[in-house]
Amino acid sequence: MFILTQFLFVFSYEITWTNYSFAFPQFIPLIADKTVFSRTFEEFGQILNISIEYNGDNQEQICKFDYQSMEFERQPESLIALVSDMQQIDIDVLKTEEIQQGFSDELISYAIQNWSVILLQKNGTIHHMYYNIGTNFTNYTSHKLQIIIDANTNQQILADKDNYYYVDNQQLIRFKIKDGILEQFKIPNWNKVNGHFKMFIKQSYLYIINGIYGICIYELHNNVIIQVNKLNIEEFQKDKNLIDYAIENDWLYLLDYQSGVYRFNITTMQLDQKFFIDYKGCRMISIKNNQLILIQQNLMHSEVYEGIIIDNDWIMIRKYMAVKQNIKNIQQFNNFALLISNPINNMYQKNLLDNFSDPNISKGTNFYQMEFLGMNELNENYIVGIYKYGVAIYFTQERPAKIFCQAKLSQQNRVTIRLNSTNCLNKNQSDVLNYCQSRLDYVFDIHGVLMSPYQEDLYIYLCIIAFSIVIGLFLAIFFVIRRYQLKKEKIDHLRKSRRSFSY
Ligand SMILES: *[C@@H]1O[C@H](CO)[C@@H](O)[C@H](O)[C@H]1NC(C)=O
Ligand SMILES: *[C@@H]1O[C@H](CO)[C@@H](O)[C@H](O)[C@H]1NC(C)=O
Ligand SMILES: *[C@@H]1O[C@H](CO)[C@@H](O)[C@H](O)[C@H]1NC(C)=O
Ligand SMILES: *[C@@H]1O[C@H](CO)[C@@H](O)[C@H](O)[C@H]1NC(C)=O
Ligand SMILES: *[C@@H]1O[C@H](CO)[C@@H](O)[C@H](O)[C@H]1NC(C)=O
Ligand SMILES: *[C@@H]1O[C@H](CO)[C@@H](O)[C@H](O)[C@H]1NC(C)=O
Ligand SMILES: *[C@@H]1O[C@H](CO)[C@@H](O)[C@H](O)[C@H]1NC(C)=O
Ligand SMILES: *[C@@H]1O[C@H](CO)[C@@H](O)[C@H](O)[C@H]1NC(C)=O
Ligand SMILES: *[C@@H]1O[C@H](CO)[C@@H](O)[C@H](O)[C@H]1NC(C)=O
Ligand SMILES: *[C@@H]1O[C@H](CO)[C@@H](O)[C@H](O)[C@H]1NC(C)=O
Repeated sequence: MFILTQFLFVFSYEITWTNYSFAFPQFIPLIADKTVFSRTFEEFGQILNISIEYNGDNQEQICKFDYQSMEFERQPESLIALVSDMQQIDIDVLKTEEIQQGFSDELISYAIQNWSVILLQKNGTIHHMYYNIGTNFTNYTSHKLQIIIDANTNQQILADKDNYYYVDNQQLIRFKIKDGILEQFKIPNWNKVNGHFKMFIKQSYLYIINGIYGICIYELHNNVIIQVNKLNIEEFQKDKNLIDYAIENDWLYLLDYQSGVYRFNITTMQLDQKFFIDYKGCRMISIKNNQLILIQQNLMHSEVYEGIIIDNDWIMIRKYMAVKQNIKNIQQFNNFALLISNPINNMYQKNLLDNFSDPNISKGTNFYQMEFLGMNELNENYIVGIYKYGVAIYFTQERPAKIFCQAKLSQQNRVTIRLNSTNCLNKNQSDVLNYCQSRLDYVFDIHGVLMSPYQEDLYIYLCIIAFSIVIGLFLAIFFVIRRYQLKKEKIDHLRKSRRSFSY
């Protein structure tokens, strides 16, 4: 009931539409079965739905449309299996039981900083490597951290500037890897942390998000940590259960399981009094470019809430159910979100409004991959995927929607394309919930090919024959002239000799 009322509140936001159409229909000459017209729809953003109407001499459906999509492809040569003996076996071809038998140890945390990937194995082994602009890792080394392995929980590694950190509930270790050598420093005054916690480090400040114990901030000074009391959060923390966080720009978003999302200015640790997302029971938050995803996990399924943060408010765009999936991590791309939920992950398109979208594209696509811990973007086209037993580089590309038109029959066909999309040339860009209804008209003037294949063959033979005749004639003329010249020379010669004879 609570959720339902929230849901209605969200849809009280008005969706506005901009109309866009070609000033004139575009005239496209084509040759039947030979030439193809194709175009992409980058400038229309995400296409929500499309209809194509034909009005021609023939009712031929000459156009084929593909929605925007995301390519996600592992680079085979970049796969490194780090943990198990089953080196270099493509884990996707193994059965779950085989994986469980063969891979009893696993990677549990990762950090990525300045072109290095650093991975933590359960038993305290650190794997370190660099990635190239290409698709390979280089300078792989592995190290052993001197840690107390004794019922430690919440093991994590973190990176800040040129330091790495290992943390669990009873120890904090700062370490560096230089020229393949690991140096480690134990932080002596680390207090035991109770319960489940998440930690991040920013500019030598340690932030510990610790469930019912709230948030705690330390400053790291020469291997000693000092508690920071600048917080106005003592009051804020009452009856809270902080279980996840997200950082974007200057904002630290804290997810409280009991009530919803709060945010703090990370420089001043001032609570933004105007901002609050009233959603109980969520376990996970992800924010990228002000696009927010919240996940609420139930026994049999997860609820996914997708919204946009605008100034100090937010708008929910969609709510959907991911059946029987225990979502472990979220990776947002520009127009897509990957919900990591091993072993079946799901790629969703963002920004689709259910009421206006083709149901097929709203469903998302399942795909099976190795058991991901998470991933990290390298650049526009590559990401590093970290899974429980190794790492790999993936090629990724968001592809715009596109259309191909080709006719079998000769005809004139006026094709009207109507689309609902997230963008268009005359859209009001300052209004996030402004979508576009566009109408694009094409007139395809399709001519048959000039000749059938048989005719074409015949034409070629005729050409060859004609050419041969021309050559023949040319040769004949040449010989006639040559004969004439020879005769003339002979006569001249005779004349000359006769003349000289007469003298
Ligand atoms: C676009 O949305 C409108 C509702 O605003 C709907 O009437 C129309 O059919 C949709 N167009 C397409 C191509 O789905
Ligand atoms: C930890 O794992 C690594 C790699 O599998 C292995 O070489 C090492 O012996 C393990 N160490 C312990 C203490 O189990
Ligand atoms: C990546 O490594 C593989 C195997 O080590 C090698 O065959 C390939 O050429 C390398 N590619 C690049 C771009 O370095
Ligand atoms: C990787 O190793 C090579 C050879 O030892 C060295 O020249 C290079 O500087 C190393 N790269 C990095 C990023 O450390
Ligand atoms: C990143 O790596 C480069 C070269 O390895 C180094 O010069 C630079 O200081 C590093 N930056 C940070 C923030 O660690
Ligand atoms: C956070 O506080 C600092 C210092 O008062 C201020 O400069 C900055 O603009 C604030 N950031 C946001 C996002 O409000
Ligand atoms: C979307 O559809 C639902 C039911 O199909 C309806 O209750 C709701 O008002 C619609 N929302 C908008 C914004 O049209
Ligand atoms: C999408 O377009 C198709 C074809 O025009 C139409 O049948 C369908 O109702 C539309 N769906 C939505 C959600 O607008
Ligand atoms: C949705 O997908 C199904 C199966 O792939 C297909 O048969 C159906 O035509 C699609 N619906 C739309 C509206 O594209
Ligand atoms: C564009 O959207 C903004 C925000 O909703 C609104 O204030 C403004 O009036 C709109 N402009 C036009 C030309 O519709």
